[in-house]
Amino acid sequence: KIIKSKHKLQNEILNIKNISFIPTMGGLHKGHISLIKKSQNFKGKTLVSIFVNPKQFNNKNDFLKYPRNLKKDLIILRRLNVDYIYLPNFKDIYSFRVKNKIFLDKFSKKLCGKSRKGHFKGVLNIVNRFLHLIKPKYILLGVKDFQQSYLITKHILKRKINTKVINCKTIREKNGVAYSTRNKNLTNNQFKVASKVIKYLKNNKKLVRKDLTNFKPTRIKKDLKNFGVTKIDYIELYNSKSLKRPKNKKEIFRIFIAFYLNKTRLIDNI
Ligand code: PAF
Repeated sequence: KIIKSKHKLQNEILNIKNISFIPTMGGLHKGHISLIKKSQNFKGKTLVSIFVNPKQFNNKNDFLKYPRNLKKDLIILRRLNVDYIYLPNFKDIYSFRVKNKIFLDKFSKKLCGKSRKGHFKGVLNIVNRFLHLIKPKYILLGVKDFQQSYLITKHILKRKINTKVINCKTIREKNGVAYSTRNKNLTNNQFKVASKVIKYLKNNKKLVRKDLTNFKPTRIKKDLKNFGVTKIDYIELYNSKSLKRPKNKKEIFRIFIAFYLNKTRLIDNI
């Protein structure tokens, strides 16, 4: 069922207790599909939202250029037998008050929080609204957007919202590049450069596992620029649980990166 207004949505799902919710901005790819398939292993109904949220874009041009293909998205969702699709417009989703205030954990100031001012506030604003309307049992999120998923989890815990976050692993193309809607804006050559970046970082992670001093951001940035990367917003190492800098090579850590290929900004964590 395709639903375009919050009132119809709330009427429709009033008595449904076990909703698994996948928020998206459309441009669906295998990453989204894996979230949907995972949700279908749970009992209950699956609800997918599609809304390109202007409030989380810190750059008007980026918002305008964000890939959209609703027709194709609906074909994919129909094929997957998704129960509900919520397609709000701006007024529908932003014209009501939400009981819970947004909670922005301090980790929102790091990584993408530095280079995309207001981005996470925009993400939490919309997700808080979805949670208010849908009250899902589960929300499924991809770990490619690690920081987003972490901050949504912190908000849910802080506001004692009765929804469990299910983190799902990153799905990658054969060449290692993580599926992302933004990949649609890449040229073939840029896609190859992205693959080189990911292979380089996977390799670097192996070295860093042996010795933490093998993580040399200045060196890495230089090498990636030589591959054809236009700009690097950050390349940083964090313990994936404590979100502190790892002090011991035995800790579980990830390399976090945000980089540009011409005007297209990609993020990943390895
Ligand atoms: O990850 C995304 O696509 C968006 O940030 C989300 C969670 C749908 C909120 O607009």
